[in-house]
Amino acid sequence: MVEDNINYEYIIRYIRRTLKKSEGQLAYLERYAAENDVPISQPETIKLIELLIKISGAQRILEIGSAIGYSAIRMVNAGAKTIDTIEINPDTAEEARRNIAEADVEGRVNVICGDANEVLARLEGEYDLIFMDAAKAQYNRFFENCMRLLRTGGILISDNILYKGMTATDELVLHRKRTIVKRLRDYVDMLCSNPMLDTDILPLGDGVALSLKTGDGEGRI
Ligand SMILES: C[S@@+](CC[C@H](N)C(=O)[O-])C[C@H]1O[C@@H](n2cnc3c(N)ncnc32)[C@H](O)[C@@H]1O
Repeated sequence: MVEDNINYEYIIRYIRRTLKKSEGQLAYLERYAAENDVPISQPETIKLIELLIKISGAQRILEIGSAIGYSAIRMVNAGAKTIDTIEINPDTAEEARRNIAEADVEGRVNVICGDANEVLARLEGEYDLIFMDAAKAQYNRFFENCMRLLRTGGILISDNILYKGMTATDELVLHRKRTIVKRLRDYVDMLCSNPMLDTDILPLGDGVALSLKTGDGEGRI
């Protein structure tokens, strides 16, 4: 298996060969992340997000989990007007700010340092797209505020939802990961049973949940 990816290695390698190689700062950040064990979005996952931004015309984006700012830079380059991105680790948030300044997208990306559980409660307004990419065990706790902050017709993307396949089958669940897997399963149930969301689980990267916030509980926007 490649990193935290649920697909066969030959499939991943094939898909990645089809994707355009990053250049300049993005290539540097990918190398830096690999060498320093910084978990950034997988190439096929961030490509999907870029396409969703382009297709939907999402302008205002909220990201939970900035790490070093890699996905925020890619999302803004894909056409987002503004991004608020939350990072709990102060040193990492500072790194993200430096990288964002270097990417020349500084005025459009706002790195908020803090625990998303507290930061989300303070945020106002409506976002066109929310990218949930922080501590998996806490997705359930972020959910209510995400629903409040996501506009009707907006997109919620939750990453690492299949967690190396463990979410899908007990056979793969490591003993020490039981709690986190249980929370992820509860989160998937929460997404799929919510009448305001239309959700699909994509076996891409480490598993991506793609949800559309509908207006009437009947799947209409
Ligand atoms: C997978 S990384 C984010 C990767 C980034 N989205 C990218 O693709 O470049 C997850 C980040 O979430 C941060 N994080 C974890 N728990 C958090 C929380 N409760 N609030 C805010 N950030 C959190 C971690 O410090 C880590 O940097």
